[in-house]
Amino acid sequence: MSLVRSIAKCVAVPTNYAQRVLEELRRHGVYLEKCSAERIGRIVLIPVKDLERALRILNRIPFIESVEYVVKCREHFDLRTLLSRYVPREVVEQIPRSFDIVGDIALIELEDRVAERFGSIIARAIMELQPHVKTVYARGPTVGTERVRVLRFLGGEPKTRTIHREHGIRIVVDVARAYFNPSLATERSLVASEIPRNSIVLDLFTGVGPFALHIARRVETYIVACDINVDALQLLRESLSLNKLKGFVEPLHIDSIEMIKGGFLRDRFDAVIANLPHKAPDLVPWILDVLRRRGRAYVYAVCSDVTEARMLFENLCRRYGCVIETIRRVLDYAPRKIIARATLIKI
Ligand SMILES: C[S@@+](CC[C@H](N)C(=O)[O-])C[C@H]1O[C@@H](n2cnc3c(N)ncnc32)[C@H](O)[C@@H]1O
Repeated sequence: MSLVRSIAKCVAVPTNYAQRVLEELRRHGVYLEKCSAERIGRIVLIPVKDLERALRILNRIPFIESVEYVVKCREHFDLRTLLSRYVPREVVEQIPRSFDIVGDIALIELEDRVAERFGSIIARAIMELQPHVKTVYARGPTVGTERVRVLRFLGGEPKTRTIHREHGIRIVVDVARAYFNPSLATERSLVASEIPRNSIVLDLFTGVGPFALHIARRVETYIVACDINVDALQLLRESLSLNKLKGFVEPLHIDSIEMIKGGFLRDRFDAVIANLPHKAPDLVPWILDVLRRRGRAYVYAVCSDVTEARMLFENLCRRYGCVIETIRRVLDYAPRKIIARATLIKI
């Protein structure tokens, strides 16, 4: 939704009649709701859908005139419609209709040459569509062990830090220093809703800690939140001081893979979250090792579909001693690739 100025047919009435006229027009369904009435000195201009009908309805009210005037109207614009005014059609067709918003930062996937040529126009269009967005980046892939995103600044305030609100939780994010994906909000909430009170939880690849924050917000728990990226943990510490939490979160800077392979955490945890989709399925034997009996593991994987995910985890469970409680399609990841989550129970 965007606010734009457009010409509308209006009735012009003295201010002392404006309220009465507005109500009368509303009652007859003639008031043009998407546009706002505008006061000019001692006259109010009220936009209407059908001028002749409006004048008939108001025939007993004195001093009514009709005018065409530019007023503020709410229009449903998507990014492509808005951009079609400024960017050649063949380019508009390459621009995605949607983009991610993290706090007040927008991240859009663009080809390099489109970003280079039209980046600042696209940034302005996004900020016009979403007035709370202050900064726009073209988003590249996530790279390296720390899965930090490659970014290209397109426009707005040159900043990378923001506070993202998700299900009432404030998450401090730095889009240039740590991984964060706002599309996982529902997934985090679903996982958190399954963690019982007084559980001891291990979040192996916590990033800025969104799973840990969701869980700690809901129930009394002890959550060890691990990551190899020290910046991500620093951001998590800031979030811990911003939110009212029932659970206790312990940020831990460690190589989690080495840690669970170390053999010194056997049977310690009621739940383990392993959100590192390219590697997590290979870690199932060690994840099960640190879980207590009947404990739950939330393991993410890149697969072509849910059937492939089920086969992958059935094989793992047969070999290492677990049962599958759920397989969930979490996100589309790439053409013909999804991120799936398996909830496994240790037997
Ligand atoms: C896909 S991100 C997931 C972040 C978080 N769970 C979320 O939902 O936002 C993976 C995270 O794992 C961390 N990571 C990768 N390898 C690691 C390792 N061996 N030990 C600890 N953390 C690791 C990265 O730094 C990154 O923050």
